[in-house]
Amino acid sequence: MKNSKIYTIVAVEKNFGIGKNGFMPWSFRKEMAHFTRTTLNTKDPAKENGLLMGWVTWESLPSKFRPLPARKNIILSRDPYDAPGEEVFDDINTAIERLRQDDSIENIFIMGGASIYKYAVENLDLDGLYITHIDKDYDCDTFFPRVPAKYNKETKLGEAEEKGIKFEFMLYEKY
Ligand SMILES: NC(=O)c1ccc[n+]([C@@H]2O[C@H](COP(=O)([O-])OP(=O)(O)OC[C@H]3O[C@@H](n4cnc5c(N)ncnc54)[C@H](OP(=O)(O)O)[C@@H]3O)[C@@H](O)[C@H]2O)c1
Repeated sequence: MKNSKIYTIVAVEKNFGIGKNGFMPWSFRKEMAHFTRTTLNTKDPAKENGLLMGWVTWESLPSKFRPLPARKNIILSRDPYDAPGEEVFDDINTAIERLRQDDSIENIFIMGGASIYKYAVENLDLDGLYITHIDKDYDCDTFFPRVPAKYNKETKLGEAEEKGIKFEFMLYEKY
């Protein structure tokens, strides 16, 4: 769909860390529910959303949960990469174009990891950034970039607490 909106979606700890050794250093059921609800949501029930992710993020998903259901999963790798049944692209812009030309796709969510977020935040004209802020420090080796000042329309979508740790669901957009 030509009018597809494009978002990033991420959970970050206090220093914008997102992962360690190929996995997320936390597991929050309510955060996962927010991710699922947000990425499944379509205005048109006949359509689904597209998900773009690097192969490391793909492999971090438990095999019983991948592909993430009721969404078009697209994997990014510049090298040949085998993900049976899924589409693999060697270029993020080609992947976005592929999703935009597909009338069954409503919106596009970029779901990591670090270099893909960095490219998207610094180079794409995003419709918004969904960021869950986890109010705790974690030891991380991969990070989300700072949100550019142009995305200064901040909406608090909600908040939650799990295992004694608070988090906030935010959406950053342009005015
Ligand atoms: N907190 C969160 O919300 C969240 C979300 C997602 C991921 N994570 C975490 O982030 C970590 C994984 O991130 P990561 O940065 O290590 O790996 P990644 O982004 O998932 O995958 C990296 C690979 O993607 C390919 N790639 C990167 N940019 C590309 C581009 N522009 N075009 C085509 N292919 C491209 C490259 O594959 P080749 O080397 O094959 O070319 C690269 O090695 C894990 O710890 C994961 O748990 C956290």
